[in-house]
Amino acid sequence: MEAASSSPSHCRYSYEEYKQTADWLLANTEQRPKVAIICGSGLGSLAELLDDKNAFSYEDIPHFPISTVQGHVGRLVFGKLQGRECVCMQGRFHFYEGYDIHTVTYPVRVFFLLGVETLIVTNAAGGLNGAYNVGDIMLIKDHINMPGFAGQNPLCGHNDERFGVRFLCMSDAYDRDLRALARRTAEEQGCGSFLQEGVYCMVAGPTYETIAECRVLQKLGADAVGMSTVPEVVVARHCGLRVLGLSLITNKVVTDYDSNEKANHKEVLKTTERRTQDLQRLISQLITKI
Ligand code: HPA
Repeated sequence: MEAASSSPSHCRYSYEEYKQTADWLLANTEQRPKVAIICGSGLGSLAELLDDKNAFSYEDIPHFPISTVQGHVGRLVFGKLQGRECVCMQGRFHFYEGYDIHTVTYPVRVFFLLGVETLIVTNAAGGLNGAYNVGDIMLIKDHINMPGFAGQNPLCGHNDERFGVRFLCMSDAYDRDLRALARRTAEEQGCGSFLQEGVYCMVAGPTYETIAECRVLQKLGADAVGMSTVPEVVVARHCGLRVLGLSLITNKVVTDYDSNEKANHKEVLKTTERRTQDLQRLISQLITKI
């Protein structure tokens, strides 16, 4: 991983770099996906379900960021899910790993240049809404960009009009029709009882939230909190992709000073494992209807 850009006023990648990455991929696969899926922690096994797979390790793709986390797979997998061509990111880049915000979102502009029109993002999140249970799936209807409030917005710096406009509207970030489709599909497959719809708040991490921080986020109107997704969604909307976001509620946040509960990564992974199949089924069914 290269050092973060010293100048916040410039995106560290040129249009030509994104284009070279996309052209290399187009030359190395015959697939032309219209849907891209970013798989969250523990949900990367979705890529294993693809038929006619063409997989590329991140390190083999020109200009692509490289996964530095031990044990994390870093692959871009093209293939067919229920007969529909798609491309899956198996392993994403988190801001808390030390990647700058332009690197976190690099793949999204590549998807755009590949001809992708719809982005599906999944993540693990802590439940802030008291009515949520561990194992619930939340359709993201809106987000709060905490790193963005602190100046870490991936659109800061020079705006390249070939990707999108300078001042981007974000009031329609999460596509209403896709959400309705996801809800219908989830109900059809018996997931309706644990389906929620709410606001996702991104924090930079890697620390889980303090009790006071959780209380603040609740007061702000957030239903779930996590450490990813928002930068990718901002960049996807900038270049006109439709977005569907799904959070798996892996734990309930602690808001009570007398509680002995503690947020921990083990619980997050355990819940993810329990719901992996439901999420995979939901996305597989959904993709045939997009
Ligand atoms: N906080 C932040 N990120 C998370 C959490 C949480 O409680 N659970 C899973 N990802």
